[in-house]
Amino acid sequence: MSQKLYGWGLPVDVSTSGWEIDRLIYILHVFMAVLFVGWVVFLIYTLFRFRQRPGENRSTASGHFKLPTYLEVGVALFEVLLLTAFAFPIWNQTHVKMPSPESSLQVRVVAEQFAWNIHYPGKDGLYGKTDPKLVNQQNPLGLVSGDPSAADDVVTLNQFHIPVGKPVIVELSSKDVIHSFALPVMRIKQDAIPGQKVKIWFEAKRTGDFEIACAQLCGLGHYRMRGFFVVDSPDAFAKWFDEQAAAGKSS
Ligand code: CUA
Repeated sequence: MSQKLYGWGLPVDVSTSGWEIDRLIYILHVFMAVLFVGWVVFLIYTLFRFRQRPGENRSTASGHFKLPTYLEVGVALFEVLLLTAFAFPIWNQTHVKMPSPESSLQVRVVAEQFAWNIHYPGKDGLYGKTDPKLVNQQNPLGLVSGDPSAADDVVTLNQFHIPVGKPVIVELSSKDVIHSFALPVMRIKQDAIPGQKVKIWFEAKRTGDFEIACAQLCGLGHYRMRGFFVVDSPDAFAKWFDEQAAAGKSS
């Protein structure tokens, strides 16, 4: 892919709701720049204005200058506005208000040191039973092979394919330590926490080859905990999925 995906600035936005995150990032940066410049100007002004001069006795009584108080309150109110008008709605959108399971692709993502296990339930929409006792190199999720709902399941290592234009619900968990499931082009970053299943959803608006990154220092191999995130056309996704299912049966 010739287009530059990562580098300076934000990566390309492939998510249908990514613009909300980008807008919030933009507002926060402008806000912080205003605060920074404001404080620096204020500091330099006071250093100059209230410098020690011979023969002058400054009043040390406080309370005669109200503007800083008003500004502080204004900043606090704006931060409350950011939280309630921007941050909470995004949280609600990606973590609480899930699309219907029928209309979406369901995927389990299980993080481990240092890889991403991707578990698709297959055509029956049911995840096969898993048993921690069965976990080994060949069976990283401990899938119970005799279980009928496991028969059409597809498990991949670091290969996360999704179809474009369809909601994807990810159920995120971890086998060992805390990782962070980051899809920069999807504006998704969610901690994977052992003992918890966290659901998030997103929808891609264009196809392409991207990456999964781990955004939480999780051990010596953290830097190489990289996965491949591919947004396919619906046909290409169906083809890829059938190939994976066939490969799973023959092995
Ligand atoms: Cu997993 Cu860093």
